[in-house]
Order: sequence, then structure tokens, then C-alpha cells
Amino acid sequence: MSKLTLLLFSAVSLCSIFFAGCNSSEKKNGNTAYLEGNNKKGGLFGRHGEGPRLRNPNFSIQVDPNLARSLTYSRIKTQAPFIAMTFDDGPHPVYTPRLLDILKARNIKATFFVVGTNTRRYPGIIRRMIAEGHEVGNHTVNHKYLSRISVEQARAEVMGCERAIIAACGVRPTILRPPGGHINNQVKVWLNREFGYSTIMWAVDPEDWKRPGSGVVAQRIITETDPGEIVLAHDIHGPTIAAMPRALDGLLSKGYRFVTVSQLISLERRKLADIETPKENLHNSDYSKKSLALFSD
Ligand code: NI
Repeated sequence: MSKLTLLLFSAVSLCSIFFAGCNSSEKKNGNTAYLEGNNKKGGLFGRHGEGPRLRNPNFSIQVDPNLARSLTYSRIKTQAPFIAMTFDDGPHPVYTPRLLDILKARNIKATFFVVGTNTRRYPGIIRRMIAEGHEVGNHTVNHKYLSRISVEQARAEVMGCERAIIAACGVRPTILRPPGGHINNQVKVWLNREFGYSTIMWAVDPEDWKRPGSGVVAQRIITETDPGEIVLAHDIHGPTIAAMPRALDGLLSKGYRFVTVSQLISLERRKLADIETPKENLHNSDYSKKSLALFSD
């Protein structure tokens, strides 16, 4: 029933995007090379001075550290349009701050699975992530495939990244994403018992690391994401960052709301009725009403 509702308001909001802003040059570019602001005023990552039209609403979703979590997640079961954007392998000295600017302009909170070597090199970026409401997760020190190394090596990889994150920002991570997605159940159990981590996989993979072009990355993210899902991307690739304004605005205009992974997990365990419905909302009041109707399902 509510899936139907989502489809309905998605269709309505897609129509409104079409009428609001789909210009012909954008259409000509198709999926090949959507680089926002490319060769235009504002540069590759453009829109400077213009400002995005859509903003993610504020949510006060408290994360209870004592709440029992499952071993692993790639999505949560919900009909409400909450999703989590995740970015792996950073921080990158140039691209990650750019991405943080893009997220900030839209009031979007994301989750960063950082590698220890980059965390040690750029601790200020980790501090900025935390200060701006994002979540930081463990992605090992050297991007090692945990199911292919010894327990001793895996322990050093996990603990080393954890220590680097704590040293940078003072916050201990509670989630880990296995590099390359290489993991098995035995390692998941070990991560949970020894460190208390939940293993975070993903439901949507735009394969941005294969560099298919920003337009393709954005389009895959917009069309493949469903309520409750965790979306994978990498903040070390320029085209991925260039895809984000379009991808994020596309999801916002479909009525999706962005939360961190830990917030998403805690939502699974709460009645949707408990969630504060935001006063400030997306620009189109019609589909806002439609999407808010999902909260009462
Ligand atoms: Ni990775």
C-alpha cells in the first residue's frame, strides 16, 4: 500500500522536476557526462552562489549506544523514505571537503567509512565530519580484505583504524564496512564480539569506482534507491563528487530523507509515529504532504 504511495508521489515529484528545471542541454548530455557546472561559471563542482533548492529536513533521532544491533545491515525494513548515503576510502584532501560543502548546503547527514592512513593524514577533515553531524565508521587502516588475512592482521587493521579515528575526533566508531566487501559470517561475528561492531554493507551500488561518468552514477543512485536502503559511494573519485549534487537533489525531490547509518538502524527499532515530523520541509508543499503521509503508515 505505502509502496504504491511512494511510487505515486515519486511520479508527481518527477513531473514537478521536469517542469521546474529540466533544460534541453541537460537532456542532450544524457547519461554520458553530467558534470555540474562543467565549462560554465562555477566550475566543475559548480552552483556556487546559486544554492540548491532542496534541503533535507532536521531530524532529532537519538542513537542509543546500548541498543542491541544486528550483526550486519545493508538496509532496514521500513516503508518510510529514510535512506543513508555512505562514502568510503577517504578522507581525500580535496574531494572530501568539497563533498562536505555539498552535503552542508542540503543539510544532509552522511556516513564516512574512512581508512586509517588517510585519517592520520587528514584528522581535521574527520573533525569537520563529526562537527557537521556526520557519522564516521571503520574501514581498516590499509584497506585490507578482512576475510583474507590472519586474525592478528585483521585485529591490527581494525584497531589501528579505530585508534586513528579516536585520535582525530574523540569519537569511537561503532560500525565497520569491510574493504572490498570481502567478509564472511565468521568475521562478522568476531567483529561484533571483540569490538561491538555491526558490519555495514550496502543495498545500492552505483559502481562509481569504475568511473562510468557522473551522469550515470547520479542516475543509478536516483533510480535504484528504495526506502530504508544504504547507498555506497566513494569520496576519493572526482566524478563521484561531481555526481552528488544531482544525485542528492534527485533523491530529495523524490521525498527521501537522509540520516546516518546508526540513525537508520535505530529507526528500525522505533515506531515511525515517534519520529518528529519536520516543520521546515522541501520546497514543494504538495509532495511534501504526500511524503509525510508515509510516516503515518
Ligand atoms: Ni573501500
